[in-house]
Amino acid sequence: MSQTQPLGLNPLRSADDRRLLRIAGPGALVIFGVTGDLAQRKLLPAVYDLANRGLLPPGFSLVGFGRREWSHEQFAEFVAQSVRRSARTPFRESVWQQLSAGLRFVSGAFDDPAAYATLSEVLSELESSRGTRGNAAFYLSIPPRHFSDVCDRLAREGLADHDENTWRRVVIEKPFGHDLESAQRLNAVVEQVFARDDIFRIDHYLGKETVQNILAFRFANSVFEPLWNANYVDHVQITMAEDIGIGGRAGYYDGIGAARDVIQNHLLQLLALTAMEEPTSFDPRALRSEKIKVLNAVGLPDDLAANTARGQYLGGWQGGREVVGYLDEEGTAPNSVTETYAAFRVDVHTRRWAGVPFYLRAGKRLGRRVTEIALVFKRIPQLLFTEHQTAALGQNALVIRVQPEEGITIRFGSKVPDTNMEVRDVSMDFGYGHSFTESSPEAYERLILDVLLGEPPLFPQHREVELSWRILDPIERFWAASGQPEGYRPGTWGPASADAMLAREGRTWRRP
Ligand code: BG6
Repeated sequence: MSQTQPLGLNPLRSADDRRLLRIAGPGALVIFGVTGDLAQRKLLPAVYDLANRGLLPPGFSLVGFGRREWSHEQFAEFVAQSVRRSARTPFRESVWQQLSAGLRFVSGAFDDPAAYATLSEVLSELESSRGTRGNAAFYLSIPPRHFSDVCDRLAREGLADHDENTWRRVVIEKPFGHDLESAQRLNAVVEQVFARDDIFRIDHYLGKETVQNILAFRFANSVFEPLWNANYVDHVQITMAEDIGIGGRAGYYDGIGAARDVIQNHLLQLLALTAMEEPTSFDPRALRSEKIKVLNAVGLPDDLAANTARGQYLGGWQGGREVVGYLDEEGTAPNSVTETYAAFRVDVHTRRWAGVPFYLRAGKRLGRRVTEIALVFKRIPQLLFTEHQTAALGQNALVIRVQPEEGITIRFGSKVPDTNMEVRDVSMDFGYGHSFTESSPEAYERLILDVLLGEPPLFPQHREVELSWRILDPIERFWAASGQPEGYRPGTWGPASADAMLAREGRTWRRP
């Protein structure tokens, strides 16, 4: 391994090196939308877990910004509750004491100039009392319609300004726009205030260990890459299935739907990592440029009616519980045409992937929660065995299980003992839980730490976001003109049209 390789993403570096080198320097994190669901369930616990792992400096400070009229103490109580409920690591009083001494709350609306003046005072106070050195990251965990107000106010109050010894960064949660045009507008607004390198767009899938492992799996091993192409791969299926419904998130989800919610970002990033060529290094620019080449090469079939499917969950039973249909969820529009299941085929027009369909699907209220990338291999051209002997032999497959039961499985045929050469599918399994004793950090731990360290490889840049919308926009336009999505029962694997889509090509979806 070269000594000059950047350390940020190097999968070969030992955990000890990483710990020594990856501790955030002085700084503050300001969370807009701190009372929201994401902050409570993920962001605040992740900050605590980082502190607990010794990866935050002693003076690290966390500022909540929201409309509630809270004192700093009330905010601290709120953070404590969310940490106790959702942190990954045990609650330790000494860690909490140190962290809670740096908690502040700023009360105000996103467009209230006075609140930004207060924020500025709070940041100065933290600089002198906690030694944050003027460094701050602004995390916008808020609906995108407020992005421009917040950026504008931050700029006017001088909160985005910094000299060469300090940093000011902005972190944006998805959705990055609604389509290509709105994403471009959004990018322009944010880039007016922050330099490109100071903008961190969160795609939390890239913070998952299993997703980072795609790079290690492909590029640190010699056995798989020779098979990773159109000579051997018949097709690729990328699945993100959830067994939950939309919960209380109708305000966000209705009008957005499954494709915009998770395919435009998470699944297309998984596709890019699966299909890209080997980068020259793990330098963010090198990595990004390979992902961009793939996204640029993605094309849609001409016949969108035959190559897309969408559905909306109906009421019914799931896991022994009666659940309501999407249209009866609180807050969805009557007759909403928002899809809760989306599937479509894309092709990657590169020499490596010519003729290999990539099928993407995502849905809520499906059979079980699973995210996986499956490379399904071609059948061998000539079988020595009889039809009877191979009745239980499927196509070989290599499956990267992103979650749960994180790991990698290879499926292949094996002789059934004590038969006359009957062959049946078996699997060879790598599970993180078996091979490693340490548990994986949550994606948000990794990503928040990267923001504080200013390390960008795991954050999609504006070009990737725009290219993803370029892929999705024609499908969304087609669906917008296609009326109501097909209903499907909870606990099933989605609408019949999704099965028909693959059946037309002589294939079937995996039932993970
Ligand atoms: C989010 C989506 O990005 O990912 C949610 O907005 C979805 O709709 C969530 O439930 C799933 O994340 P994870 O990490 O549990 O797969």
